[in-house]
Amino acid sequence: MELRSAQHPWWHGAVLYQLYVRSWLDTDADGYGDLRGIISRLDHLEWLGVDGIWLSPTMPSPDADWGYDVSDYLGVHPELGTLADLDELIAAAGARGMRVLLDLVPNHTSSAHQWFIDASSSADAAHRDYYVWAGAAPGGGPPNNWLDSTGHSAWTWDDRTGQFYLHNFLPTQPDLNWWRPEVHEEFRRVLEFWFDRGVAGFRIDVAQGLYKDALLRDNPPVPPQEAGDPLAGQWGLAQVYNANRPEAHAVFRDWRKIAQEQVPERVLLGETWVRDPAAFYGDNDELQLAFNFPFVFADLTAASLAGVVRRTLETIPAGACPVWMASNHDVGRFPSRWGDGDDQRARLALLLLTTLPGAVVLYYGDEIGMLDVAVPPELQRDEMTLGEQSPRGNRDRGRTPMQWDSTALGGFTTAARPWLPVGDAAARNVADQRADPGSMLALCRDLLALRRAEQAGGIAPYQELAVAGGLWAYQVGGLRVLANLSGEPVTWPGRSGEILVSTGGPGDEARVGRPGDPVTLGAWQGVITRPGAG
Ligand code: GLC
Repeated sequence: MELRSAQHPWWHGAVLYQLYVRSWLDTDADGYGDLRGIISRLDHLEWLGVDGIWLSPTMPSPDADWGYDVSDYLGVHPELGTLADLDELIAAAGARGMRVLLDLVPNHTSSAHQWFIDASSSADAAHRDYYVWAGAAPGGGPPNNWLDSTGHSAWTWDDRTGQFYLHNFLPTQPDLNWWRPEVHEEFRRVLEFWFDRGVAGFRIDVAQGLYKDALLRDNPPVPPQEAGDPLAGQWGLAQVYNANRPEAHAVFRDWRKIAQEQVPERVLLGETWVRDPAAFYGDNDELQLAFNFPFVFADLTAASLAGVVRRTLETIPAGACPVWMASNHDVGRFPSRWGDGDDQRARLALLLLTTLPGAVVLYYGDEIGMLDVAVPPELQRDEMTLGEQSPRGNRDRGRTPMQWDSTALGGFTTAARPWLPVGDAAARNVADQRADPGSMLALCRDLLALRRAEQAGGIAPYQELAVAGGLWAYQVGGLRVLANLSGEPVTWPGRSGEILVSTGGPGDEARVGRPGDPVTLGAWQGVITRPGAG
């Protein structure tokens, strides 16, 4: 496989794969996945047809938030491997035509980072202003009403230096102070260090969060009519002042320049936890890719999904590349969220996801329809959402080990116990699905091959053809997608054209009708057709 090189950037039309390193493959029998595990299974990703791999955090960390609490931005977590392993992984992936993106966490560090250890040692420490400190409110207590991701005050009192420090996540994840130029300089060095080692880009954690209001004003409540929207705020407060500040955009303009200074193929993908990711593309001079969370939180209905796609394409700047994903390590897995474990719905959702124009990000296990796993409280590992205290549920459900084969531990580890329990590997695993042409894995590979053939030319033009009841029909490049997002049959009155893929599996094309006939789709069925032939 060749690294794509064409007139357009490689991520236009590309398939990225989010690989949660701890849960992929354990090669040293400690119960955790590791970098050598990835190297040894790159053939799976190449066979599947992946263009780029985003590795969940790989840097040293005390793991209060499983790597999202970084204690050294220039290293590799010893539990996952060494810098030499990462170099080897980047080279081995490159040799197979796949690029590697790292996860970068610029909003906060671990409290075990040397910067914070120094900053909290005295009020005039050299690194004091790398973090956000404030005195008590006039009547005592925290400086304002900001809440962290667990619903407690976002301020923790530091007895030694007599001030509060800010943490939008756990108290062990102090927020950095992006008003300080030294922080910008530090991250410039981090970016350059990893670019020099051959990484193709970064997924930027909490991209909307970097700057906080300089006046530390109170957040307003979420308006009642928006209360159910996970992107409207957190714990009843709209995140107007503790995040989502306009100053962050200048950082991304700088980083875009750093990224592309010498190598135009370097890419920045933002975790933009907002309703309107369009703003993060800037004037095509900020992030090249921004996650689309409204798509994730849409319902599996024609009106809801088509509406998000329409609005996204209308609002992003001309030439910008939309990003679609449906599962990740925070929101869980789409076959559970959208499909409730029903394979037909999961297959349809996969077909929709992989035909949309722009970039697609699959989460490890999506390709075999892995489901969320109900992890009992005593086995949960995610401190932030322990015991389901979070409104979005415990996140461990979507982080369980990759299911490679049908054995009890799914072929993930030879240790007695994996770090998180393995789901129902007998029901869904790579080995069995590779042998079954009707499997989700076979469907996924076919969809990616078709995508590569059709969308290698860049961001395919998208045209909505119909959204009516369960029916969502669209044209994308030279293909037509007809989808029935309902439990009742629907008919597409136009001519079918040649049916290339059906979620019903091999042979199912015949059921849909002959080219030229109207298409009747069964419950939760989707097809890809090539119009014009019928
Ligand atoms: C992002 C990560 C999430 C983490 C949080 C704090 O949302 O995806 O896993 O807990 O940032 O770093």
